[in-house]
Amino acid sequence: MNAGETQRRPWIVGVSGASGTPYAAAVLRALLEAGESVDLVVSRASRLTLLDETQISFRDAHWQDDLREWLSRGADGKPGTFETDVDGVRHWSAGDLAAGPSSGSYPSKGMLIVPASTACVAGVALGLSKDLLQRAAGVTLKERRPLVVAVRETPLNGQTLRHLVTLDDAGASVVPASPAFYAGATHIQDLVDFVAGRVLDAAGVEHGLYRRWKGELGGGDATRTT
Ligand SMILES: Cc1cc2nc3c(=O)[nH]c(=O)nc-3n(C[C@H](O)[C@H](O)[C@H](O)COP(=O)(O)O)c2cc1C
Repeated sequence: MNAGETQRRPWIVGVSGASGTPYAAAVLRALLEAGESVDLVVSRASRLTLLDETQISFRDAHWQDDLREWLSRGADGKPGTFETDVDGVRHWSAGDLAAGPSSGSYPSKGMLIVPASTACVAGVALGLSKDLLQRAAGVTLKERRPLVVAVRETPLNGQTLRHLVTLDDAGASVVPASPAFYAGATHIQDLVDFVAGRVLDAAGVEHGLYRRWKGELGGGDATRTT
């Protein structure tokens, strides 16, 4: 790197195999719109949820095309709803344990796991590093960088609850993928954007994904005109 050249410092976004690929799409779009660079890791299992929820096969060899198509979809699955420039994204294969984010010396702002499966929560809590996603999360914790874990499962058993406490104790922010209704949601996308917005709040990234509470009951009601 030449003197004066600024170093790329991305957010690592890990997509694991829990239901909720629209949450990941909303987070990715908002990060890119905020001018952040992104390193993307898509677990093997999440390719199944992505296929199930969007009918998109995510291919390592064609990741840019597949990502562009994925990010264009609204939560209702309609293609062409959004247009996102994916030039700021670098993709790493989940099996590539020599990838940049596998080392603490690789620059990053932190990591967002969205959605996080209970298997992923267990793997990170126990330090298993069974793939790049889990390794990058462990690295993020050891480097004391922000780690946000948007867990998606219901009901939660005691084992997962204990793993979540372990992650909280280690400094991670546990942000359950549980939408709220006070921000005036009228569409599925509003509920998705609320969760994505809370994930970004935990990371300290600015966004305009949902209407913030203003201290007034009914203030988020989109049907009110006064
Ligand atoms: C369609 C589908 C939906 C799933 N939804 C969830 C879920 O919401 N939460 C969860 O913890 N696991 C869910 N799973 C199971 C995970 O994919 C599975 O535990 C997997 O091992 C996770 O691996 P990963 O953490 O490496 O991505 C789902 C699996 C499929 C096929």
